[in-house]
Amino acid sequence: MLLLLALLALAADGASATEDLHWCYQVQAQASNCLGPANWGEHCQQSRQSPIDIVTNKAKANENLRPFSFSGYDKKLEWTVQNNGHTVVMSPTTNGIEIAIAGGGLSARYQVTQFHLHWSRVMNAGSEHSINGKRFAMEMHIVHQKEKGTSGNNNNTQNPGNDIAVLGFLVTPGPKVNDGFRPLVEALSKIPTPEMSTTIGGISLMNFLPTEEKLKRYFRYRGSLTTPSCNETVVWTVFEEPIELHTDQILAFSDKLFYDTERRLKMTDNVRPVQALGQRTVFKSQAPGQLLPLPLPALLVPTLTCLAAGFLW
Ligand SMILES: *[C@@H]1O[C@H](CO)[C@@H](O)[C@H](O)[C@H]1NC(C)=O
Ligand SMILES: *[C@@H]1O[C@H](CO)[C@@H](O)[C@H](O)[C@H]1NC(C)=O
Ligand SMILES: [Zn+2]
Repeated sequence: MLLLLALLALAADGASATEDLHWCYQVQAQASNCLGPANWGEHCQQSRQSPIDIVTNKAKANENLRPFSFSGYDKKLEWTVQNNGHTVVMSPTTNGIEIAIAGGGLSARYQVTQFHLHWSRVMNAGSEHSINGKRFAMEMHIVHQKEKGTSGNNNNTQNPGNDIAVLGFLVTPGPKVNDGFRPLVEALSKIPTPEMSTTIGGISLMNFLPTEEKLKRYFRYRGSLTTPSCNETVVWTVFEEPIELHTDQILAFSDKLFYDTERRLKMTDNVRPVQALGQRTVFKSQAPGQLLPLPLPALLVPTLTCLAAGFLW
């Protein structure tokens, strides 16, 4: 009887502890008591989750995936830069200036709400999406919310699956300092611990991106937020052209930021593992300059690997 009571008490304890635990990344779950990705709740165990591995030779070309039109992306604004305990988030402080995307095969206009990054110290472990199994040093996500009343018949009630559009950019290490990222990287040392924030001014979103003509090639699929509650309401775009940062700029994120106020654990590896694609299709844009068909015998394995890794397109 005593044993039974003890067991019941333990079980009850366990249950309430699980509910009280906050979600965290795997690297934190190893170091403290929190819910790692395998135990995330809400929508996170559903079947249309993100990120995924993008297998380029299975991506289906889709001629509707035309270039995006970016508005307000070139406006110099003031941004709040915040450590939110999971990442560093930049949000525009200025109201009334519209930063939005349209085109790109989207059914509506979408307005920027914030952007943030994922990273690691390890240069092939910091992106959330991977391309043919290859991960990158970092990944930047620009999060957009669908404008109300711009989607014709597909209003939010009918199609909640596309409320959010995220533009994903992979980041590779390079020998050159990326001047566009300099103000953000410098701001990191001002916001080491969660809830700290600062502002940076005179910065446009385009400062962070590859030049616009390099943004015509991208992958598209339907998925989820990559943090709880993992709502499956995201139209994903992952661009082929990576952003290049100097290795020191990449490492600054892991070095300057902490997950916790006590500064016990440096913020790094804030990356959700890839999720099963399941029944979904990944599409790719059909920009000019497709690969020329090569005679089959010429397609030796190394060539295929290079093609698949995206070196030629
Ligand atoms: C959106 O769709 C719902 C369900 O079909 C409909 O009741 C509602 O009137 C629509 N709203 C707009 C603004 O079109
Ligand atoms: C996610 O879905 C829940 C309902 O399951 C909803 O309450 C919440 O607002 C949604 N969050 C986002 C960001 O869409
Ligand atoms: Zn993200």
